[in-house]
Amino acid sequence: MKNRFLRLLFLSGTVLALLTACEYDNNVPSPPKPAPPAGDTISYSQDVQPFWDAKCVSCHAGSIPPNLTAAVSHTEVVPAYVIPNNPETSELYTVCKPGGSMAIYGSVTATELDLLYRWIYAGAKND
Ligand code: HEC
Repeated sequence: MKNRFLRLLFLSGTVLALLTACEYDNNVPSPPKPAPPAGDTISYSQDVQPFWDAKCVSCHAGSIPPNLTAAVSHTEVVPAYVIPNNPETSELYTVCKPGGSMAIYGSVTATELDLLYRWIYAGAKND
């Protein structure tokens, strides 16, 4: 009886060890992007908002935060999801990156992702 208990204990320990060892790390760090050129000009209303309009407002128009409709989107995302000047640590950028939770929904293109990166890098201004 005692023997069986010990065997079971050993077995479950092994299974647990195997499971945790096989945990897949989804967050493989990508090499840092080169800094955008000095004087890079990107406009929130002209460049970033059209991206929200095209890929995100179908869901993010009020009921699911953040609200990405033009009238309120900037106050909704800064500072809640954006760390100005730090795209790599801004949730808004990481969810849109390949493998991010929103990348599949909106089929974000490399160009859109780059716009988002440059806007945050330049200070995430509301211009
Ligand atoms: C098909 C609907 C849908 C589309 C399109 C969509 N989202 Fe979302 N989004 C959701 C839902 C549902 C949640 C909340 C649950 C979750 O995190 O998956 C969410 C959550 C988020 C969050 C918060 C994440 C968190 O963990 O709190 C952000 C930021 C976000 N979306 C940004 C975007 C951006 C940017 C786009 C456009 C590229 C986008 N979403 C497109 C449905 C959508």
